Amino acid sequence: MAKVIAVVNQKGGVGKTTTSINLSAALAQRRLRVLLVDLDPQGNASMGCGIDVENVDHSAYDLLTGSAYAENIAVKDENLGFDVIAGGPDLTAAEVELMESDQRDKKLAEAMNVLQIVYDYVFIDCPPALNILTVNALVAAQSILIPMQCEYYALEGLSALMNTLADLRNTVNPNLKVEGLLRTMYDPRSNLTKDVSKQLEHYFKDQLFETCIPRNVRLAEAPSHGLPISQYDKSSRGAIAYNELAKEITRRNRKTLKNQNYSVSL
Ligand SMILES: Nc1ncnc2c1ncn2[C@@H]1O[C@H](COP(=O)(O)OP(=O)(O)OP(=O)(O)O)[C@@H](O)[C@H]1O
Ligand SMILES: [Mg+2]
Repeated sequence: MAKVIAVVNQKGGVGKTTTSINLSAALAQRRLRVLLVDLDPQGNASMGCGIDVENVDHSAYDLLTGSAYAENIAVKDENLGFDVIAGGPDLTAAEVELMESDQRDKKLAEAMNVLQIVYDYVFIDCPPALNILTVNALVAAQSILIPMQCEYYALEGLSALMNTLADLRNTVNPNLKVEGLLRTMYDPRSNLTKDVSKQLEHYFKDQLFETCIPRNVRLAEAPSHGLPISQYDKSSRGAIAYNELAKEITRRNRKTLKNQNYSVSL
């Protein structure tokens, strides 16, 4: 069964999409079966994977509205190494349609049931808002990965996300976990980065990933070529960091699985 991870932070431009694409690619390189769901009307994750969002047969809109079989929606490109369910402007229409439907929070979770069997990891790239699309991602997910920039306002807004998380745990998704907080665009020479990073270590302890993603221009260039960093420049600092993150995530999840098996056998 797939581990479904929502990549979420309602703050814009913190590295959600960059992380969704490059972590998917790094895990796929480790021979894991990965699906990336682009749940953002901006469609950045799809474009960064070389997908023309105006010309796809199906998109996440179909997943949310049930207008196509879930198994037929993903774009499968062997060169990319992982599957992608495209996002794009249609999702704004999906948002409106969802508001009018019953069980509107659970549409993605329901559609995802079939897909969970096929993949090891599913990443959902969320839009920069705590809207109905993001809530669908949080209901479908087993955990959330929160990318954040180590800057002055980094922690602002995090409390709104944590409140939403608490609400969902009390209602529709009691087992929703925090996969981890990820420091992105990390600049170790900046004192502000170091200060904020220390604060994060203090408040979040082992919820913070050890791996930090450095600010790296190759990561910013890769989407315009429609390629993950592992294919655009595999020896760049950005590529190495996302490989490290993939290792850290697989290690953590192996540990959790072992503990679960242990408690079952008790
Ligand atoms: N580690 C990095 N080093 C340099 N540039 C980066 C890095 N991570 C992201 N960027 C650049 O920063 C910008 C914002 O990143 P990204 O699109 O991943 O953020 P986002 O959180 O998905 O944004 P949005 O909230 O709009 O969806 C992009 O131009 C991206 O190329
Ligand atoms: Mg994005």
